Amino acid sequence: MDPLVSLKKNPFVLAPMAGITDNAFRSFMKEMGAGIVVTELISAYGIEYRSHRTIDLMSFTSQQRPIGVQIFGEDATVLAKAASFVESAGADFVDINLGCPVPKVVKKGAGSAMLKDPCKLGEILSTIKAAIKIPLTIKIRTGWDDSSKNAIDVVKAAADAGVTWVAIHGRTRAQGYSGQADWDFIGEVKSKSPIPIIGNGDISSATVAVRRLKESGCDGVMIGRGCLKNPWIFKQALEIHQSGQAMAMERDFPQTLEKLKAYVDLRLDQRYSALQMKKFTAWFSSGYPNSQAFRKKLFTETTADGVLEVSKDYFSTLSLSQQEDTSHENFLMGGHG
Ligand SMILES: Cc1cc2nc3c(=O)[nH]c(=O)nc-3n(C[C@H](O)[C@H](O)[C@H](O)COP(=O)(O)O)c2cc1C
Repeated sequence: MDPLVSLKKNPFVLAPMAGITDNAFRSFMKEMGAGIVVTELISAYGIEYRSHRTIDLMSFTSQQRPIGVQIFGEDATVLAKAASFVESAGADFVDINLGCPVPKVVKKGAGSAMLKDPCKLGEILSTIKAAIKIPLTIKIRTGWDDSSKNAIDVVKAAADAGVTWVAIHGRTRAQGYSGQADWDFIGEVKSKSPIPIIGNGDISSATVAVRRLKESGCDGVMIGRGCLKNPWIFKQALEIHQSGQAMAMERDFPQTLEKLKAYVDLRLDQRYSALQMKKFTAWFSSGYPNSQAFRKKLFTETTADGVLEVSKDYFSTLSLSQQEDTSHENFLMGGHG
């Protein structure tokens, strides 16, 4: 499936999040209305050595199409070979992580360190592009630090290398997850870009998603932490985008949790299912009345069925309008992009 055609139909993209957007969660979010989904960052070296863990991280189902596999590394040849492997595994596009701020990654010259030299980056991207027929996309930050916000140069180098789109998290590497994503800057990059731009950062509700899309002029917006507090954010955003207003829609917590459990259970690993269910339901409860007491109870459960029952009990007493806090302040302030 052509990811660009899909982006035009549904411009709301699930952001890659390590340890979160695994195979199960991507299927769940796809069912919950995400247009495009991407795997978390995957080491190009791990692919080179066919590490079982790495290959497992790459797994996806056709329900998730169009699906991108995000890879990282600093060596053009290793990245090109990994991209070719991703293509042969049937992915719809290859995404390169150029936004990871984590010291272990940037010290080796990968992730956001690659933004420092757009000229060299352009050559690396051309080498990767020459190795594949499927689209190549990149995910970047606005720059390395405040004195080098060079996303416009990076986008131009990427466009020359044949990159299909650029997703921009509106913070510099130096900022980490502090401060606010700079959407004015994202809009400026978009206005000067010859290729589609997907804006990203701090989209905390469906209304904000639609407003950012419109005001920045971007071709899509990418939502990460926002869907962890509100699993309906994609459906709601698409509805507002298409109809111009939010309509009353079915938002059934128990039914939604059953769906999540069905995907998580596909792993046939009870411990994993219980852990994942706890993590997600704890996040979904953020900002609702008595959520702290709920979370305390949740963490005493040892099976996915137990977690589901406790969660159903809690959520059946709530209505969505009771969620007071959907902000990202102090919420998951570390990540790989
Ligand atoms: C826990 C976590 C893990 C992340 N892992 C990745 C990753 O693997 N690759 C990547 O490009 N970005 C990663 N990111 C960054 C997100 O894709 C996104 O750019 C960032 O969270 C800002 O968007 P948001 O405010 O909508 O969450 C991660 C973020 C978080 C919070």
